[in-house]
Amino acid sequence: DKDGYKHFMAKEIAEQPTVLSAALSAYLTETGIALPDPGVDFAKVDRLTMVACGTAYYACFTAKYWFEQLAGLPVEVDIASEFRYREPPITPGTTALFVSQSGETADTLAALRYCAGKAERILSVVNVPESSIARESDLALPIHAGTEIGVASTKAFTCQLTVLLVLALKAAVDRGRMTEDQLQDVLASLRALPGTFNAALGRGDDIRDTAHELAEARDILFLGRGLMYPLALEGALKLKEISYIHAEAYASGELKHGPIALIDQSVPVVVMAPKDSLFEKTISNMQEVMARGGKVVLVTDAAGASIAGADAWKTIVMPEIREVLTPLLYALPAQLLAYHTAIAKGTDVDQPRNLAKSVTVE
Ligand code: F6R
Repeated sequence: DKDGYKHFMAKEIAEQPTVLSAALSAYLTETGIALPDPGVDFAKVDRLTMVACGTAYYACFTAKYWFEQLAGLPVEVDIASEFRYREPPITPGTTALFVSQSGETADTLAALRYCAGKAERILSVVNVPESSIARESDLALPIHAGTEIGVASTKAFTCQLTVLLVLALKAAVDRGRMTEDQLQDVLASLRALPGTFNAALGRGDDIRDTAHELAEARDILFLGRGLMYPLALEGALKLKEISYIHAEAYASGELKHGPIALIDQSVPVVVMAPKDSLFEKTISNMQEVMARGGKVVLVTDAAGASIAGADAWKTIVMPEIREVLTPLLYALPAQLLAYHTAIAKGTDVDQPRNLAKSVTVE
């Protein structure tokens, strides 16, 4: 039931404040973080290996930044189809974590089975608690996104990010990298996230107007730095999946090592740049793009827009949010840009060509 929405994807995008609340209430108590039994003590984890496919992989890639920066935990991330055949050594003290909406993705399940008996512990972050990946894990953490029908993953992605961030915060505390006060401060912002997300949903009109122009493009680039790099990759994936426009993402700093050769007046460049600690760096890359005629869609907040918005072709303004939570909020403009571009192109957003919701063959 689309509940009055034209597409499941639109409904699932709009549901995010509700399902994010559900994910948060599953893992946060009044006073802190609570994982289901047997829990995880990250003080005893030497290394975390995260494996997934597609959008779930981008959730893992985002979480790598969180686990490393917040918890000082060494993290490896990989796509399941490469990991499973590479015969990667699994060192003692390694916890392996698999992220999958369906819990049935063939490559991810095979990667899990490769780690079984080698890793100290197998964790999974899944939407379907009775799935194969959940059943074969030592601890399965449900994301509480509810059934996701649109082939392009939206609410599962933000719920995966939520659960992974809670795990990274737990790791930060377990490993003595975060005080109780610092934890409470981040948890307060996290509890406010559904409300902030809801406010951002109300700003969808600018995104729709921009998307109508993006629909004319043949190629679109996404740029981001730090936490916005994995999100840029997710934005490009979402756009190509449902609008069939060729889209690529690059880490902003990589631009001058090759991709800048692609820039001309016909290539819109979506720059994901909240006014965070890396803002100045990303904006200088944005200026390099503009100097070569590239048309920049700047996705930022009010502070970022007041500094750099005047130069951009289009500016999309998100509510302010603390840096660590930016991937959760900036997923929304990435999703809406893809959605409205696909609508403008007249494609079937819920059932894009050649794609299946659950990839149970390799
Ligand atoms: C993208 C998308 C796919 C899935 C990937 C993994 O919108 O939906 O890239 O993320 O096929 O699927 P799960 O999470 O079910 O393992």
